[in-house]
Amino acid sequence: MSSHGTPIPMTARKSGPLKGTAAVPGDKSISHRALIFGAMAVGETKITGLLEGEDVLDTAKAMQALGADVVREGAGEWTVHGVGVGGFTEPADVIDCGNSGTGVRLIMGAVATHDFCTTFTGDGSLRKRPMGRVTDPLALFGARSVGRSQGRLPLTLIGAAEPVPVEYETPVPSAQVKSAVLLAGLNAPGQTVVIEKEMTRDHTERMLVGFGAELSTETTPEGYHKITLTGRPELTPQEVAVPRDPSSAAFPVCAALIVEGSEVFVPGVSQNTTRNGLYTTLVEMGANITFENPRTEGGEPVADLRVKYSKLKGIEVPSDRAASMIDEFPVLSVVAAFAEGTTVMRGVKELRVKESDRIDAMARGLEACGVEIEEDHDTLIVHGRGAKGVKGGATCATHIDHRIAMSFLVMGLASEQAVTVDDGSPIATSFPVFEKLMAGLGAAITRNN
Ligand code: S3P
Repeated sequence: MSSHGTPIPMTARKSGPLKGTAAVPGDKSISHRALIFGAMAVGETKITGLLEGEDVLDTAKAMQALGADVVREGAGEWTVHGVGVGGFTEPADVIDCGNSGTGVRLIMGAVATHDFCTTFTGDGSLRKRPMGRVTDPLALFGARSVGRSQGRLPLTLIGAAEPVPVEYETPVPSAQVKSAVLLAGLNAPGQTVVIEKEMTRDHTERMLVGFGAELSTETTPEGYHKITLTGRPELTPQEVAVPRDPSSAAFPVCAALIVEGSEVFVPGVSQNTTRNGLYTTLVEMGANITFENPRTEGGEPVADLRVKYSKLKGIEVPSDRAASMIDEFPVLSVVAAFAEGTTVMRGVKELRVKESDRIDAMARGLEACGVEIEEDHDTLIVHGRGAKGVKGGATCATHIDHRIAMSFLVMGLASEQAVTVDDGSPIATSFPVFEKLMAGLGAAITRNN
């Protein structure tokens, strides 16, 4: 269980050039899925490079509570003895997913077609987030749920005793919703179909194929993305080498772009087109990034990035790119503050239901640091300070949100005055070595108590 009981205020100060290699930890999305699919396969799955952040550790505990045998063999090395599709058993206690929307929503999907009852909870951030987007489609399989108002956690899910397959068009662009439906479809007879208007990260589809499920994807005449999964496969255990997390890589990359004189090497950054929208955007803004040694790692296309301090210009980010960089808008808005001209981010309302309302959290912190912004429900516009520089000198509220904390710390590295975040403890959910890695590059980030 993740505890954010004791806040850890942290401060970032203007730093000299950042130099060196930033080898970020394993991908969070793929780490959750490796544990869950491993638990649903028959036999032993071996995982290397697993992200040992709080979110993923909570998923590992949940898989144990559902009957799988999950063992840590060494740093990032785990084995999972799976129970097979349909083989989960009723957990003896509440499943606490800590801060993790991905953890709770994927596990809800996985248990929704099992004939037992599971109660889920999470930390103060997760208990505020909407779960109806997952319980609605799970009800179509025959699962029932009772939660707090608007389906919020704590929530009890009674799995379908005789599940039926489902055809579902996702009303929001969400890989978590898509994945919950596919995970439920694994233990339903017949074919489960998910249709998404905008394609979201495709790790679930890739890994299901890797574990031996029968899954096909196609583009419909309307241009939608359609996935068809045949239920009740026997999943074959795999050796999963988790690639590095492009969402974590975004922090040292963006820091290097805004701290004068920096040159940072970031190995193994995903070039999966459902994840790399930030990198495309940065290049359009004029970022000096070279993509070296393209290859495949852990089933994902990756490249090594060499990033140099750059004079950037504001751009309009196409709204159809939002899904491929949804977790990177907070740090992009920091980069935009240092760019010359205006950066317009439209079609980003999903940011309002992340670990915090990220449009609001970034808008308030940027304003406090002397950056002019405009916002509406679905838009964030940042008026870059360019040569005028960013003042900084504020304490920014992080609202139990790791990416808000890391974004403002990156901002402090290039602002005139130091930037403090009220609580850096949530960083451990996704990037437990953030402080050490950034210090290794020469970043002046300290804890205040
Ligand atoms: C994730 C999907 C995204 C993303 C989250 C990880 C996943 O959420 O923000 O950090 O692993 O499926 P949504 O599906 O809600 O967009």
